[in-house]
Amino acid sequence: MSATLKITDLHVNVGETPILKGVNLTIRQGEIHALMGPNGSGKSTLAYTLAGHPKYEITSGKIELDGRDISELDPCERARLGMFLAFQYPVTIPGVKVADFLRHAMTNVRNPERKEGAELMPMKEFRQELRQTMTELNIDHEFARRYLNDGFSGGEKKRMEILQLALLKPKFAFLDETDSGLDSDAVRVVSEGLAKLSGPQMGVLIITHHRKLLEYNVPQFTHVMLAGRIVETGDAKLAHELYSNGYAGVRERHPQEAAEEEAVKPKVVAGV
Ligand SMILES: Nc1ncnc2c1ncn2[C@@H]1O[C@H](COP(=O)(O)OP(=O)(O)O)[C@@H](O)[C@H]1O
Ligand SMILES: [Mg+2]
Repeated sequence: MSATLKITDLHVNVGETPILKGVNLTIRQGEIHALMGPNGSGKSTLAYTLAGHPKYEITSGKIELDGRDISELDPCERARLGMFLAFQYPVTIPGVKVADFLRHAMTNVRNPERKEGAELMPMKEFRQELRQTMTELNIDHEFARRYLNDGFSGGEKKRMEILQLALLKPKFAFLDETDSGLDSDAVRVVSEGLAKLSGPQMGVLIITHHRKLLEYNVPQFTHVMLAGRIVETGDAKLAHELYSNGYAGVRERHPQEAAEEEAVKPKVVAGV
């Protein structure tokens, strides 16, 4: 049976400020969703909240995975249930090699009951799977010996994300991309990699400024966020229309949210 992630009337604060103001969204395994919206509309906030980042406080509403409310679970527990977030700004962990990190992550995700400090998956089995996957994805095997995210180029960060997706096989992946710092090589890596990996076993939410990503991974659903709410949902055509024409039309159709967006603008500037 395919899994379902259901977000109902989700309200999220950062500090005292309400950022998400009633988000409703359902993603099923196997579906590709694009989340679009102007800067500051709350897209990353939704991604971080789904991942369980402690800075984002759910003040009301629910996040359910197959009917189970997961909004109180920490990020590790969510990962064990099959959720995966590719962070907009991946962290650097000096001293940890790509292979060590992946072996830990794979062990945890595959043995949800594993206790901290218990044995990792066997080295031989891990190496074999890692090698095979890297070959399939055209990733240089030397990459696994690098330190995690240490001096990675945009393209290498994306290779890391795609490698994680391939090995962890999450039920739901949230990809939050910025337009800064991604060269065309990086965009190609993530576009082709995701297209190779997504399928009936993965539900994907893509937040991107790169049209190419959605050309390779055609979304069945495109959602538009404005001032902390999803105000419109369409298909892939809506995504392309927004890339071409921007958000003026969306603001016109949703004057209430557009006014709220204006109202928070000075705060956004002061908060940066
Ligand atoms: N960690 C944070 N600290 C302070 N303000 C934040 C934080 N995360 C988001 N915000 C605020 O929430 C609003 C939505 O931001 P964000 O979710 O990053 O939007 P988007 O990803 O759509 O550009 C902005 O006003 C932003 O300043
Ligand atoms: Mg963002």
